[in-house]
Amino acid sequence: MMFQQRIHKALEHRKALGLERTVDISERESQAVMSRKAQRCINFSSNDYLGLAQDASLIQAWQTGLDIYGCGSGASPMVTGYSPAHAKLEKQLCEWLGYPSAVLFNSGFSANQALIFSLLEKGDAVFQDKLNHASLIEAGMLSPATMLRFKHNDLSDLSNKLQNGMKEQTNGQSTLVVTEGVFSMDGDRPDLKAMSELCKKNKAWFAVDDAHGFGVLGDTGQGSCHSAGIKPQILIVTFGKAAGISGAAILCDHETANYLSQFARHFVYSTAMPPAQAHALSHSISMIQTQFWRREKLAELNAEYQHGLKHCLGYVETDTPIKPFICGDSQSAMSLSEALKADGLWVSAIRPPTVPQNKARLRITLSANHSLIQVKKLTSAISKNVMDFRNHEG
Ligand SMILES: Cc1ncc(COP(=O)(O)O)c(C=O)c1O
Repeated sequence: MMFQQRIHKALEHRKALGLERTVDISERESQAVMSRKAQRCINFSSNDYLGLAQDASLIQAWQTGLDIYGCGSGASPMVTGYSPAHAKLEKQLCEWLGYPSAVLFNSGFSANQALIFSLLEKGDAVFQDKLNHASLIEAGMLSPATMLRFKHNDLSDLSNKLQNGMKEQTNGQSTLVVTEGVFSMDGDRPDLKAMSELCKKNKAWFAVDDAHGFGVLGDTGQGSCHSAGIKPQILIVTFGKAAGISGAAILCDHETANYLSQFARHFVYSTAMPPAQAHALSHSISMIQTQFWRREKLAELNAEYQHGLKHCLGYVETDTPIKPFICGDSQSAMSLSEALKADGLWVSAIRPPTVPQNKARLRITLSANHSLIQVKKLTSAISKNVMDFRNHEG
């Protein structure tokens, strides 16, 4: 089929399924308020969990970075793109998270792909939670290793799969287990301690993508692994969520970091992040470490959310700022999202293929920028709309 026909057909198919998505302009106003198509809404759909993305002192830090370093890094890290700001950020991450080395990437997506593509060889096995992020699953499928997906957060399924996988392996082949620290669409968490033990028992390396736990969990925001008391061989942290900017780092031992910088194509062949951004990220990390009130505020908002919705059909309890509200089919999720928009509340509907069939949902996220009143407004509007839909259907 010609490209043009193929493209047209795929788009028509997606539209027919009611799954077409659009990219619209969102304008930030203040705190958690945004506007889209001239409508002002409270934003319950960002990953800015700690409310740092618009913070005045963080903006100032980036501006200071621009004054010191200029705009771009000008080259990949191995050439001339690696600056004192990058080195400082890596050192800060290592000391805080307790790893010998950190390797910086421009995004979490590229860090995940870099890791999987550079680490795995033919004959290796990679075991991934079924609900891992697309960047991990796709890399696992395209890598020369054998990939097996275990049931979501299911240790006994992982254990069985590891044991069967081991039987088939010959000497010299390696095994990697990959999970998220906090699942991006469900806000739930695996038993990292038990999973880490299982990996040790099976001589597998353990990698945790903590995109959504970093900054939020742990006493100074070190994330899921620290709060579970484990140190996996590989920890991926991303800076586009709680850290309020963008980029990512892989934390690991010296030799693995050296290997990644030699062989990970996303590192070797990509322009290094702007040094001013690395400078701002160092400031962001200091804020995460010291501004405990942001995590305390999230806990208060969490309690308010739970209080307001725990009896409502669709509510799912989580102890993270990610709050899925399950609607079932895509149309119900879209209708609820539209009804909330009319009430000035921006909550995106998430539909298949991002989430499983019949698990379309609202993905509600809380931010330290929200007020208790804003969360109350959200829970009342959801309860009212769910009730109205039910009365209408009945
Ligand atoms: C679990 C997880 N890993 C990785 C990524 C990709 O990170 P980035 O947005 O920095 O590319 C995301 C993004 O949503 C994510 O949810």
